[in-house]
Amino acid sequence: MSTTVSLSNFNINDYRTLLPEELNARIVAAKRALGDRLLILGHHYQQDEVIAHADLRGDSLELSRMAAERPCETIVFCGVHFMAETADIVSNRPERLRAREGRRTTVILPDLAAGCSMADMAAIDQVENAWEDLSQVIDTRDITPVTYINSAASLKAFCGRHGGIVCTSSNAAKVLEWAFERSKRVLFFPDQHLGRNTSLKMGITNDQMPVWDPYAGELGGSTREALEQSRVILWKGHCSVHQMFRPEHVANFRKQVPGIQILVHPECPQEVNDIADLSGSTGYIIRTIREAPVGSKWAIGTELHLVNRLKKEHPEQEIHFLSPVLCMCATMYRIDLPHLCWTLENLVAGTAVNTIRVDDDTSAFALLALERMLAL
Ligand code: 13P
Ligand code: SF4
Repeated sequence: MSTTVSLSNFNINDYRTLLPEELNARIVAAKRALGDRLLILGHHYQQDEVIAHADLRGDSLELSRMAAERPCETIVFCGVHFMAETADIVSNRPERLRAREGRRTTVILPDLAAGCSMADMAAIDQVENAWEDLSQVIDTRDITPVTYINSAASLKAFCGRHGGIVCTSSNAAKVLEWAFERSKRVLFFPDQHLGRNTSLKMGITNDQMPVWDPYAGELGGSTREALEQSRVILWKGHCSVHQMFRPEHVANFRKQVPGIQILVHPECPQEVNDIADLSGSTGYIIRTIREAPVGSKWAIGTELHLVNRLKKEHPEQEIHFLSPVLCMCATMYRIDLPHLCWTLENLVAGTAVNTIRVDDDTSAFALLALERMLAL
């Protein structure tokens, strides 16, 4: 659905051997040459040396708003593929294109291999098949499809076509309330944990949340009765990073550090989320630490680079990484100084490499679902 063009003037391999000091200096020079034609957006999970070059940083919701609101010629997205697709859709929506007399904002992902394993757990044909199968059992007019923003543009378009909506980890509860004003049920994909954790807080019980496994054959491994009783049908997807946090990690910290507070991302499994003190998006995690009284003690369950940055930026707090093993997002990590420098120097030379372009039909329907979310 996204098309990409790579007609590079330079060989990426020549950048891999350069020292960080040289890469930093060349990135700064390229940014200066490009001026306000360029906007670099960075997700909080990016490594420090990359995020240092971002003009704006944020969680997924903040980044989609930034892409929607900040006019510029080119967005270089230091994040993952679904984020760049979203930026392409919202920054090139029809009224923005009209205002720019048809000139598109070019969106670039410095390394095209920066995907998201969770987003890959729901493919459009699987979701369409599930919808078809569900229609044999329940009235699909009574289901609102909700996709986590961590999904391909085609799934957002599916939601747009079927009266559905996109959510992020910052607004999932608000989005589910919106959905329940319109229908009795929700089909939530691809992250079962965000769907479950959010629904539990709204009083929906686990027996009202069957899990749809696209590989389990008939009715996604569920039963007719379970689907008839359902309020939220959860897709069997998860984040490979956040699934590493376990309840025993919480128990260990509570035993070893009196007064510690456990702060996690809602992509963590229910067993962890239920016993944490606080749970929220990366933006929420940052605000919580920033606003906490000096000397507070925290164990944080989210991606390693963000927790390490919080440790550095808040020496006045005692911050621990919740897991004894290092949980890092390998795909976010693919964006590094060599790729950023290569991308920017190509731009200065007049070539946009690794562009992300969602086709017009997919964009139009995905935009419907994104705008429903952005309007909340
Ligand atoms: P947020 O930054 O929206 O909390 O999302 C976390 C994440 O996993 C992004 O992929
Ligand atoms: Fe995807 Fe998890 Fe990485 Fe976020 S942290 S981009 S959900 S794999």
